[in-house]
Amino acid sequence: MEIIYHGHSCVQIRDGDHSIVIDPFLSGNPLSVAKPEDLKVQYVLLTHAHQDHILDAVPIAKANKAKIVATFELANYMRWQGAETIEVNMGGTADLGFAKAKFVQAFHSSGIVLKDEKRMIYGGMPGGFIIQWNGITIYHAGDTALFSDMKMFGERHTIDLACLPIGDKFTMGPDDAVTAAVWLKAKQVLPIHYNTFPAIKQDAAAFGRLLSEHGIQCIAAVPGERFTLEKRSVIFASAP
Ligand code: NI
Ligand code: MN
Repeated sequence: MEIIYHGHSCVQIRDGDHSIVIDPFLSGNPLSVAKPEDLKVQYVLLTHAHQDHILDAVPIAKANKAKIVATFELANYMRWQGAETIEVNMGGTADLGFAKAKFVQAFHSSGIVLKDEKRMIYGGMPGGFIIQWNGITIYHAGDTALFSDMKMFGERHTIDLACLPIGDKFTMGPDDAVTAAVWLKAKQVLPIHYNTFPAIKQDAAAFGRLLSEHGIQCIAAVPGERFTLEKRSVIFASAP
């Protein structure tokens, strides 16, 4: 199974002909190597409605005839933009055929800002995804603070890779993300949601050193970098 980090919170997972992307934010991210039109996916998973997570969702979904998986309110909004969707809500699982994606809680907010109209569209509860695919479990936390139910996720799932925000300010920072990784009993952590803007600048190498004190491996990928994930081990990492 191949993981491609596209920068910010955008993570693509690929196995054979099957691929999904989570939180596509490419055209608005100067650090992104890939363009929305480069992505070939069957599903687009959205953790919440903020612009830095949904920006390229509709174009990617339309170009690929891919379905968008999102919580009820956000899925409705995506349908208004012409996308096909699978609606979920807290604790619910979307069956993707080749994989299962469970929508789980996050502590954050979720809304679409209509600047000109000076109003906000409610985006539903923000969440994360626990993805089970060919015996591998990947947790994408979305944007979140540290919360103690992560212990429950760690008890109930064998998490091979946790994609955790470390940027601070809008999400948890590196110290809380280390605690999250420990509670999740994650084998490997891909830090996300950092360095995209000055406000969320972080030192991924320092974060990796903190993780290693707990025997957890940090995969500090740069945008465009891909690595192969096998159950309980990373076997190969390459530059973009
Ligand atoms: Ni957000
Ligand atoms: Mn965000």
